[in-house]
Amino acid sequence: MDREQISRLAHADHPIAAPLDDDSVRRLLEHGIPRDDARVLDLGCGGAEWLLRAMAAHPRLRAEGVDVSEGSLTRAREAARVRGLRERLVLHHEDAAAFTAPHAFDLVISVGATHAFGGLPATLAAAREHLAPGGRVLVGDGFWAHEPSPDAVRMLGDLSDLPTTVDRVVADGWTPVHGHISTRRELDAYEWAWTGSLASWALDHPDDPGSSRALAAATTHRGEWLRVYREAFGFVCLVLRPTSG
Ligand SMILES: C[S@@+](CC[C@H](N)C(=O)[O-])C[C@H]1O[C@@H](n2cnc3c(N)ncnc32)[C@H](O)[C@@H]1O
Repeated sequence: MDREQISRLAHADHPIAAPLDDDSVRRLLEHGIPRDDARVLDLGCGGAEWLLRAMAAHPRLRAEGVDVSEGSLTRAREAARVRGLRERLVLHHEDAAAFTAPHAFDLVISVGATHAFGGLPATLAAAREHLAPGGRVLVGDGFWAHEPSPDAVRMLGDLSDLPTTVDRVVADGWTPVHGHISTRRELDAYEWAWTGSLASWALDHPDDPGSSRALAAATTHRGEWLRVYREAFGFVCLVLRPTSG
């Protein structure tokens, strides 16, 4: 059982791989999509759940997703087919940081994937390259809601607090026009879904060779969440427009 299989099982009941509930996702997309026939790009799209929801809400919207995980893209393709959205979705199996397109996009999404670029500023710089005039970026990243322990920093990286995070984005030439700070309920629901789905699968498949590994991964993850980062970690999504240009 590799990390990708673990992640697939862990997200079985929470297809958005970030601590946001369905209503928050819907509202963020509403604020990010500037028109019905928008062209939308998701860098680090995973199972393309953001794109699928955007297409379902806007019958003329066209979507493209980029991810390095072939397994996630295969699931995205299948989900798009089942929901009748396949013809409007293009998926690219490549490094999001190296992705180029022959056209610009009205909305560039990157949620929970800033590590693919080396941090939030680099993610926004990449998104800017893809942006059409009047376009928006919807970015989601972690921040420290409380002073982190050294173990939390080791685990989740060198984040800033929320005001500093937003100040840096603004200094970088962006204006937030909407945002969402994940609530305690959303943060906890995501972790319970992650650990609970994985543990349930393990208990339902005791004879599978990956069962004990899956149960151990769920137990380890739950312990790290509760002991190391639950109090310190926060997650924010911002809808951004370039301040000028
Ligand atoms: C936490 S998941 C978020 C998925 C999706 N954005 C969502 O919110 O449901 C991070 C995703 O980034 C992808 N990823 C990591 N490094 C990448 C890279 N260099 N290029 C493209 N995708 C990458 C992973 O495969 C994974 O699907």
